[in-house]
Amino acid sequence: MAKNPKDYYYWRAKKEGYRSRAAYKLQQLNERHNIIKRADTVVDLGASPGGWLQVAAKLSGSVVIGVDLLDIQPIPGVISFRGDIRQQRTIEKLKLFTNDCVDVVLCDASPNLSGNWNYDHARSIDLCDSALECAKQILKPGGNFVVKAFQGDMFLRFLNKVRKTFGMVKVYSPRASRNESAEVYIVGKNIIHEPDLPS
Ligand SMILES: C[S@@+](CC[C@H](N)C(=O)[O-])C[C@H]1O[C@@H](n2cnc3c(N)ncnc32)[C@H](O)[C@@H]1O
Repeated sequence: MAKNPKDYYYWRAKKEGYRSRAAYKLQQLNERHNIIKRADTVVDLGASPGGWLQVAAKLSGSVVIGVDLLDIQPIPGVISFRGDIRQQRTIEKLKLFTNDCVDVVLCDASPNLSGNWNYDHARSIDLCDSALECAKQILKPGGNFVVKAFQGDMFLRFLNKVRKTFGMVKVYSPRASRNESAEVYIVGKNIIHEPDLPS
């Protein structure tokens, strides 16, 4: 959680019991784009410390699963485990928990920032690619996807991949993202699964 004493969302998160100021980004994304509905099964990639999980659990009231490289302290009603979202075995574990029947895949994962813009951007897009691959494997037809991306020269190519995969795609910057931040969120709604071609 950012510790800037002037940060409105930092103090609001403390007061309202959210684990991160990022919780308000998901609230704002959902208010604008209606991503998570009641009773949805939600998977959150890169979920620690758990602000998005808290918001997703309130919105869905159903199965919510979080995965991160780091520990996620328990949240009532939420399943969480440690894993690397770039690894297929993490996706397989998510499939076991959800029966391949997921309504929403969220990804707020960030690389550890090096300060080198191009390097950080490339690693962010690498995480975005992993999140998209995971969404393709576990979302049920019509499912929704949100992923954070740092802007840079590989952004458009990734956005076009999302456009090919979802019926409706928007790029959105919630108020709770800091003004100076390079991050934006890509919202993909209504996944289109390619029919299996006969071999
Ligand atoms: C900005 S934080 C997420 C905050 C979270 N949405 C919340 O509301 O509390 C980004 C997270 O991405 C995780 N992360 C980065 N690379 C990852 C990877 N390859 N697999 C899983 N998690 C990853 C980091 O460990 C970090 O906890």
